[in-house]
Amino acid sequence: MQDTIRNSIAQNALTYSIETYGCQMNAHESEKIAGVLESLGFTIAEQPSSADVVIYNTCCIRQHAEAKLYSNIGALKEYKDANQNALIVVCGCMMQQQDAAKKLMERFPYVDIVFGTNAIHRLEDMLYKALDERVRVLNVSDDQTVVEGVPIKRSGLGSAYVNIIYGCNNYCSYCVVPYVRGRERSRKEEDIISEVQELCQKGAAEITLLGQNVNSYSDDTKNGSAFAKLLHRIDTQTDIKRLRFMTSHPKDMSDELIDCYGSINSLCEHVHLPVQSGSNAILHAMNRRYTREHYLNLLGRLKQRVPSLAVTTDIIVGFPGESEEDFAQTLSLVEEAQFDAAYTFAYSPRAMTKAASLPDQISKEVKSERLERLNALVKQIMQSRNSAYLGRTVQVLIDGTSRRSSNEVQGRTREAKTVNMSGCKDDIGKLIDVKIDKVMTHTLRGERV
Ligand code: SAH
Ligand code: SF4
Ligand code: F3S
Repeated sequence: MQDTIRNSIAQNALTYSIETYGCQMNAHESEKIAGVLESLGFTIAEQPSSADVVIYNTCCIRQHAEAKLYSNIGALKEYKDANQNALIVVCGCMMQQQDAAKKLMERFPYVDIVFGTNAIHRLEDMLYKALDERVRVLNVSDDQTVVEGVPIKRSGLGSAYVNIIYGCNNYCSYCVVPYVRGRERSRKEEDIISEVQELCQKGAAEITLLGQNVNSYSDDTKNGSAFAKLLHRIDTQTDIKRLRFMTSHPKDMSDELIDCYGSINSLCEHVHLPVQSGSNAILHAMNRRYTREHYLNLLGRLKQRVPSLAVTTDIIVGFPGESEEDFAQTLSLVEEAQFDAAYTFAYSPRAMTKAASLPDQISKEVKSERLERLNALVKQIMQSRNSAYLGRTVQVLIDGTSRRSSNEVQGRTREAKTVNMSGCKDDIGKLIDVKIDKVMTHTLRGERV
């Protein structure tokens, strides 16, 4: 039977599906998982419900993720009963949490492979072990070696993710990432440059450099300007037309990085700069290590260099001890900063983090009520920021057809605004000038000029 399975893989007869949760980091790692599987001969399943290998790439940044995953995997039992040869695979951040992988394997005996964030390059071994020996495989090692050369199946033609740093050393008091992704380690400049060059040759117009905190990117000089240097190098040594990065931590945004805006042509007029709260007391309790004043000063300096800069952010409401006055400070910061978009979250206590054991946890009701008030303000500002685009001609990188119609395409401006327009599949990956004729809260609409 094992030979039959290997033959089927080699003849592209076996399929896979991947369901991805969480951030861009996870989305990119799913591209690596797909890359490994396709290099072995697997093809993507037309229907996730018919795949021979069913993969869940998990996230644990907030609590509800766990319940959702458990219910999804519970629902797979019937599938596994009907398809004995199918492999069920669970991976990603949640599996790096203490005991999570063990618990999952105990609770769901039909899950075949479980691995964490450091084992993607071992996927081939794990698959063959599970297929050949029909044993369950677990790999949640803490090995944090930076591995190069893992095949990547890019999901988009025009825009691509490039990892530059893994892990996080910041220990914001609410956040689980440092526990599940380990310490910071950077890729070598040479490896990053050759990846970007290769992407350009394949037709990529835009790259997003990824890291939990790209400002900590280090080329071993540890002088804080390595990230700015990297941006300059990518701009001069590759043909990439648009350069982005995420995420950048306000405490580490160096003068050199600010100077990149307006002086590096490919660097897009957008920065994602998570503020988390507008109250200095809460920022302190969050261990963010900057003040509201520092944050607003950064924005002022950035906008001085690039007046059209779009700024997006992340905000948490209901952190332990957040008073109505603290929350009012967040609202006033949002008003002052005039964010182009904000990803807003109700604080969710995570095991192992310092904030989970703080007194004065905020009730669910208060959290949702604050979230609602914040979202209403954010929406109002988004609408007014977008209104400025009416009648303007902007450059749009088309990244896909619309779900509603195949005669509709969607793309992004350099400021990361989503634009819908008429078009077709052939437009994907192209940079097109578009005149905006309609403005909504979350998207713009226009026609090519
Ligand atoms: N490294 C990035 C963000 C990683 S997580 C950074 O430092 O900005 C993405 C966002 O999830 C965070 O910015 C934060 O706003 C939110 N988040 C993280 N932990 C959370 C928690 N325990 N509860 C609610 N939101 C959380
Ligand atoms: Fe989490 Fe803070 Fe690290 Fe971002 S910088 S991943 S919020 S600990
Ligand atoms: Fe989630 Fe892991 Fe990203 S916990 S937000 S997928 S780093």
